Amino acid sequence: MTKFITFEGVDGAGKSTHLAWFADALRCRGMDVIVTREPGGTKLGEQLREMVLNQSMSIGAEAMLMFAARLEHVEQVIQPALQSGKWVISDRFSDASFAYQGSGRGMDWEKLKQLEQWVELQPDLTLFFDVPVEVARQRLSNNVSLDRFEQEQGEFFERVRAGYHRRVAENPQRFVVIDAAQTLDAVKLQLAAIIEAI
Ligand code: TYD
Repeated sequence: MTKFITFEGVDGAGKSTHLAWFADALRCRGMDVIVTREPGGTKLGEQLREMVLNQSMSIGAEAMLMFAARLEHVEQVIQPALQSGKWVISDRFSDASFAYQGSGRGMDWEKLKQLEQWVELQPDLTLFFDVPVEVARQRLSNNVSLDRFEQEQGEFFERVRAGYHRRVAENPQRFVVIDAAQTLDAVKLQLAAIIEAI
């Protein structure tokens, strides 16, 4: 049964906006849903988020901190919620580490797969909000303050997007690719169809 759902995409794809709508739509159907995010989701995770989004560090340290926050998140929040019958929707999860630290920063995927083994849990369903990098950049240009990732150049996001496509190709059964270049209403129609299906 589909209960653990993750939202992924390059910065500016619009996933966070759609996530709130998606969670409410499930709640309207009587599901008990919690919404959480990565990096973050726990007290320690939010402290680690503050560090990785704002402080420069080695790629290895960045990857390990992402997974440290994730492990805490899974143990403290996600697993207990799933065990008590709740649905969990997370704004990003392990795929983001492969896309950003792996493809974006160039960290070896095999090393990331070792870190992923610590986490064990995989989402039942991942919605990947796919958008051309220029469109995502344009949307981000309205933000007043940009974090360490959002300040990266276009080529970085091209690599991140390619990393997500590689994850989709490796896990086709888990992913649904959403065309996020469309209008908000058109994207909602795609999401409504997914909700009907699950
Ligand atoms: P994001 O969802 O974009 O937060 P917000 O919408 O509040 O800006 O996530 C923050 C950043 O963290 C994003 O640029 C991607 C990055 N990130 C990684 O590099 N690796 C990871 O494993 C995760 C979970 C996030």
